Amino acid sequence: MQKWIMSGLFFAACAFAVILMFTLPGKSEVAEENKPTMPEVVLDAASAEATVKANCISCHGDQLQGGAGPSLQQEGASHDAPQIYSIVTKGRGQMPSFKDRLAPEEIANVALWLAEKK
Ligand code: HEC
Repeated sequence: MQKWIMSGLFFAACAFAVILMFTLPGKSEVAEENKPTMPEVVLDAASAEATVKANCISCHGDQLQGGAGPSLQQEGASHDAPQIYSIVTKGRGQMPSFKDRLAPEEIANVALWLAEKK
């Protein structure tokens, strides 16, 4: 008799785990929700390049080939401008946030510039 109770409990726990798996929001969904909105700017490649030289190449390499951070040479292939804007604004893992160091328009300009690199 007790065996039945035990296996019943086990089954209930499994069912609960499966339900949790489908109802808890995934990590990416959470990130998606508090994505900062990118201001609309017109791409200014020269100033984007200057901003990147001053702020990003120490980790991403002087040719954006990567270093402490990943290569950004084909960043546009994996992320669009609003996604890049979000990563640079908020930071991610070892990537620092630039919210307090760059103006939103500067970050947006860099995001547009990187998004063109495919
Ligand atoms: C202190 C070192 C550092 C600096 C400075 C830095 N980054 Fe990063 N960056 C990283 C690291 C490390 C990652 C990987 C983060 C991760 O693993 O989630 C990263 C990731 C990224 C990514 C996502 C790459 C991908 O495809 O997943 C983008 C875009 C990016 N950085 C852009 C920039 C820009 C633009 C700047 C300058 C404004 C910058 N980074 C400055 C370290 C840095």
